[in-house]
Amino acid sequence: MNDLAGLAKTRAIGHAARMYDSFEAIREDIAKRLGEAVSDRKSPMHTPVVATADADARVMVLRGWDADSGTLRFHTDARAPKCAVIGSGAPVGVVFYDREAKIQLRLHGTGRIEMDSAKADRAWEESSNFSRRCYLGEGPGAVSDEPASGLPDWAEGEEPSERELAPARENFAILLVDVNTMDWFHLANTGHRRALLTADGGQWIAP
Ligand SMILES: Cc1cc2nc3c(=O)[nH]c(=O)nc-3n(C[C@H](O)[C@H](O)[C@H](O)COP(=O)(O)O)c2cc1C
Repeated sequence: MNDLAGLAKTRAIGHAARMYDSFEAIREDIAKRLGEAVSDRKSPMHTPVVATADADARVMVLRGWDADSGTLRFHTDARAPKCAVIGSGAPVGVVFYDREAKIQLRLHGTGRIEMDSAKADRAWEESSNFSRRCYLGEGPGAVSDEPASGLPDWAEGEEPSERELAPARENFAILLVDVNTMDWFHLANTGHRRALLTADGGQWIAP
């Protein structure tokens, strides 16, 4: 790296450190990142890891973030083991990581599975037929003697029609997570920063 490039990098790092010096700035950063995570498939935070109290964790696509209520929305197969673990209310942790920005976001809250609610109906209505197709086949974890997608043969590589997809609706569920704490972490060689945010306020904590 030449002197000018080194200076530019040092300034950029200094700028990042100053950007994250208030809880307000961190709340704004979280709001921006979660908004992009939902709307931009290329966002590094589009596919967080969702952990349940049975010491299991899996990648899921973030489908919605309601900033007013602090609720995350995911789509899932109602037959997936995590749905039985979460049921109508259980602790859920969600970890997001932006490798380039070196920001980790750990959200904790209470999850619930909804299958028949207005929100679940709306999520189904808004899904594409290709997305809905996932719910036509065997439930996640069903065993098979051969490598298999779990889909019926006729649906392999096809976009099913509305009529063909109707039976899939009963396998579709949403996972809603009411977030109560947000643990924000910025890894920086000028000094790591970590803040714990709740609805009531914030607290700086050692990284
Ligand atoms: C990139 C990627 C995205 C995924 N998105 C979802 C998702 O949005 N919803 C979901 O239920 N599973 C998703 N999965 C599959 C889960 O990681 C997991 O294997 C599956 O849900 C099994 O259910 P279980 O966690 O209850 O055992 C995704 C996997 C990958 C690799």
